[in-house]
Parts: sequence; structure tokens; C-alpha cells
Amino acid sequence: MIIAIDGPAGSGKSTVAKLVAKQLNYRYIDTGAMYRSVAWIAQNKGFDLSDEITMAKIAESLDIQFVPGDTNGQSVLVEGKDITAHLKNESVGRGAATVAAQKAVREILVAKQQQIGEAGKMVMDGRDIGTVVFPQADKKFFFVADAEERGRRRYEELKIKHPGLNLQTIIEEIRQRDHEDCNRKISPLVKAKDALEVDTTQLNIEEVTKHVLKNINNPTK
Ligand code: DC
Repeated sequence: MIIAIDGPAGSGKSTVAKLVAKQLNYRYIDTGAMYRSVAWIAQNKGFDLSDEITMAKIAESLDIQFVPGDTNGQSVLVEGKDITAHLKNESVGRGAATVAAQKAVREILVAKQQQIGEAGKMVMDGRDIGTVVFPQADKKFFFVADAEERGRRRYEELKIKHPGLNLQTIIEEIRQRDHEDCNRKISPLVKAKDALEVDTTQLNIEEVTKHVLKNINNPTK
């Protein structure tokens, strides 16, 4: 059983995917963390992120593990080192959008995701899980939400650690990220035809989680 949750940044997919996985006793795989890890490694080594051959080499040798831990319930280890906190940085997010637009990087990471998924009992979130990684996924969800609301959520999440943040700037960044994700040539963000669209703008985390679980258990709803 594979449950695919796709959608734009800030639509609530990773928070809900984690809770759904916990409820079902499934594993949660954050595919965005894989693109972010490639960007993080490249940035740390001072590489040019537009160098597609080097980025593909990093993706190919990426040693990533998702393990229980962290305040959010899951930690990301790269070469055995917990880099969860680093992956949330805005510059890593921007870098991830750059490498996620590269054909070779996508092919390598998609293959890794498919391999991870072979074990079954997974909730996987990203942009292309229901369309490219697991088009045969048992359940597919596509989350959407207004950019203003997504920006507000990101702002609330970041403001304690980064008091100087400006809400309007964050909303603009979300719009920019949407533009990049939806307009890239390879695997742009699109809803799979058989995915259930969930507009999370007016819903809280518990409501979305409930809705997803209800649909998994009773697909007619
Ligand atoms: O979900 P996120 O913000 O952690 O994703 C980081 C970047 O990676 C974002 O630009 C979208 C991209 N991504 C992707 O193209 N395909 C995925 N399956 C997951 C993320």
C-alpha cells in the first residue's frame, strides 16, 4: 500500500502525511528532503547548483535515511549525520527548486524513491508521487491552498526563530516557488487525474488528517 500526497509548498502535506503515517503505522517518506539534501550538500561544498553533472553525481551517491526522532517525529540523516534542521533553511529550499528542475537529478531520485517504496506501507509526499513516482499508488491526494494562507502558515512556523521576517516577502516566495514547480519542463507540479483534491485553506491539521484517513478507510467519501 502506497499513499501519495502531492501539492505545493505550504499546503500542509508533510504535516498531514506524518500524522496519517503514524495513525496507520506506516513509514513516512519526505521526497522534498531528498532534493533539499542534494542542494544542502552542494551548497556546503561550494558547488555551482546549475552544474547538472555534479548535481547528478551528488544525487547518485546520496546516502539518506529517514529515522524516527526530531520534534516533528522524523529526522533526516545524510551520511549518518542528522541534518533535519538545516534542510528547512530558505536558501536550501531555493537550491532544492534548482536541482529539482534537472532531468538527471530527478531520474536518480525518482528511482531511489521507487526503491524505498517497494517495501510498501508508506506515505510519500512530494510534487510528482501520484503522477511519476507511483502512478499506481493505492491512494492519491492533491493538496491545494491559497498562497496567502500558505504564506501565513510558513510565517507562523518561522517567526520565532527569525523575528525579522516579513509576511508579504514570504507570500511572494511561495508564489515564486509555485511558479518554478508548476512551470519546469520535467515533472511539473500537476494533479494526477485520479487524485482526490483537498483544499486545506479553511481547514486545520486535524480536519485535513481526518478527511484523508476517512477517505483511505472509505474511498466513496
Ligand atoms: O516539499 P519541499 O518544499 O521540501 O520541496 C523542495 C523542492 O523540491 C521544491 O522546489 C519542490 C521540489 N520537489 C520536487 O520537485 N519533487 C518532489 N517529489 C519533492 C520536492
